[in-house]
Amino acid sequence: MAGQSYLPVFLVAALALGWAFSAHAVDDDFVESRDQLGSIPDFPFRSCNKTNGAYRLAPVWRPLGGGKYCFNIEVRQDAQSCSGACCTAGLHKIEFNVSSSCLVAGSSVTATINGVPTRVGAAYDIPPSGLPGSAILRITQLGLDPVTAQGAELCITLKPNRARQGCTTLEQMCASPGFPAGTCTAATFDVACNCCPVSQAVQAQPPPPPPPPPPPPPSPPPPPPPSPPPPPSPLPPSPPPPDVIAIRHCNVCVTAMLMPPAYDVWPYRFDNTTCAAI
Ligand SMILES: *[C@@H]1O[C@H](CO)[C@@H](O)[C@H](O)[C@H]1NC(C)=O
Ligand SMILES: *[C@@H]1O[C@H](CO)[C@@H](O)[C@H](O)[C@H]1NC(C)=O
Ligand SMILES: *[C@@H]1O[C@H](CO)[C@@H](O)[C@H](O)[C@H]1NC(C)=O
Repeated sequence: MAGQSYLPVFLVAALALGWAFSAHAVDDDFVESRDQLGSIPDFPFRSCNKTNGAYRLAPVWRPLGGGKYCFNIEVRQDAQSCSGACCTAGLHKIEFNVSSSCLVAGSSVTATINGVPTRVGAAYDIPPSGLPGSAILRITQLGLDPVTAQGAELCITLKPNRARQGCTTLEQMCASPGFPAGTCTAATFDVACNCCPVSQAVQAQPPPPPPPPPPPPPSPPPPPPPSPPPPPSPLPPSPPPPDVIAIRHCNVCVTAMLMPPAYDVWPYRFDNTTCAAI
């Protein structure tokens, strides 16, 4: 009798233990079968104030190559941005609204704040209150305050699994219907998760094209026509040594050899004496 009544208790305990293990696994990985009840269908899939808070993403992100992307955090404490405790609360966590296609077993994301790895690794997750198919990327335990968060740089590196499956670009991860691919939507949370202002970041526009090049300098005089073949003369042509030309910083170098004319009429006399005197 007594043995029978313990059995259900034991089963419940075992189930609770099993749930605790799988709930723990959610932090590192995700449980695809987790129910999504859809009670809060809109990102960030929690009941919190989506317009009240001091922390938002700066409007653009930057690609650094190799699946690495950087965002900046902006702190605004004016009346349009926040009120009450949401203005002074610390920045505990950032969650991105991501494509569920990123949730592939073995794929991962690493995150740094100002170049330092976050205390807890970034992790994809399935929000329990979201609609089926909704997914987030969570970066938590940030421990920032309004001073340290101002301008802080958050970088994430997207890593596919060994089979190269999963998201490797923000265009894949931040696919928000109605917005260009790569439009990332994120919520920033205080430690109590009451304040969750939602902001968006898009890829920085490529730098504007360089200004048109300045007009080319006036074209140099055309090179002289090739010298006629020297007449049979004992005068050996002595071009200046090339290294002398090389150390002269000139745009156009012209080497000319002056040949005394066969019939020279004064005042146009030009012989090797005149040449040597130049
Ligand atoms: C959210 O916070 C704003 C103030 O920033 C306030 O006006 C609004 O009523 C709050 N909304 C909710 C649902 O609490
Ligand atoms: C969040 O992502 C889902 C799925 O991609 C999308 O339907 C929804 O519009 C997104 N919400 C926001 C606020 O970006
Ligand atoms: C001109 O050069 C030739 C050969 O180098 C030389 O024989 C001649 O004396 C020179 N004439 C004068 C005027 O220097």
